[in-house]
Amino acid sequence: DPIDHSLSPTIHNAAYRHLDLECTYIAYKIDKNELESGIESLKSIKVSGFNVTIPHKIRIMELLDDIDHDCKLIGAANTIVNDNGSLKGYNTDMDGFIEPIKNREIPIKNSNILLLGAGGASRAIIAGFAKEHAKKITIVNRTIEKAENLTRFSKELELDSDAISINDIEKLDGAFDFVVNASSLGLKNELNIVPTKLIDAKTTVYDIVYKPVNTELIKDAKKKDAQIIYGYEMLLSQAAKSFEIWLNQKAPYEAMKNSILGGF
Ligand code: ATR
Repeated sequence: DPIDHSLSPTIHNAAYRHLDLECTYIAYKIDKNELESGIESLKSIKVSGFNVTIPHKIRIMELLDDIDHDCKLIGAANTIVNDNGSLKGYNTDMDGFIEPIKNREIPIKNSNILLLGAGGASRAIIAGFAKEHAKKITIVNRTIEKAENLTRFSKELELDSDAISINDIEKLDGAFDFVVNASSLGLKNELNIVPTKLIDAKTTVYDIVYKPVNTELIKDAKKKDAQIIYGYEMLLSQAAKSFEIWLNQKAPYEAMKNSILGGF
């Protein structure tokens, strides 16, 4: 909730059509206080699996019979398999985030990261960078307490971390290896707040906001000749990984990609 603008049905149904599979994917809205009964309804109609999105990714954990390693690490699930009424949770956000970086063969080991935002998406991103042995992540957030919580989480995963208020972002200096926006800034065409002195041609700028495709952060990053990773790439990678968990076969990435790029 909200799901009105979700691109997931478009992406998954394109994959099923491409492979001629007798499957369908629908968006089904569950209110914040109706998660339990909503999940029971899904079980009673015997769905094979489902995704869970905001605001249910953390609370769903209590309703699962089993969880995989990444899910446990991140403390949130986004992909569920229904095996005859027994629910197993997975999290494809972490690998879905990392994959576009790896596809470009951009090294993560020993990198220095600036992360904007400290919500649900940030946890999966921190876990991903920790798994790939990044050096340090500086978390910038409007609500400093949430950034501080995530620095503790990061350090537990042996990734050095600092928390900074968004008001102090100008005090940072030097270019980062990665600048990642995991906040909702940009969704409404807000101006970029990351100082461009923190970005140079060696920086990879990754904005997980996918609509608009060219956020103001991405536009500023292009002016500095930075490497760009677009939000729709994470969206597609996590969807492909969900597909593979449910159907145990390789996802048709190009068909999935083509289904949404026209929409932009
Ligand atoms: P998600 O699960 O997708 O990460 P979220 O948990 O709602 O979504 O987190 C949204 C992030 O965007 C948070 O870091 C939020 O900052 P706060 O923790 O201070 O709420 C950030 N955010 C949202 N609107 C913002 C704004 N107008 N200015 C700065 N940060 C904003």
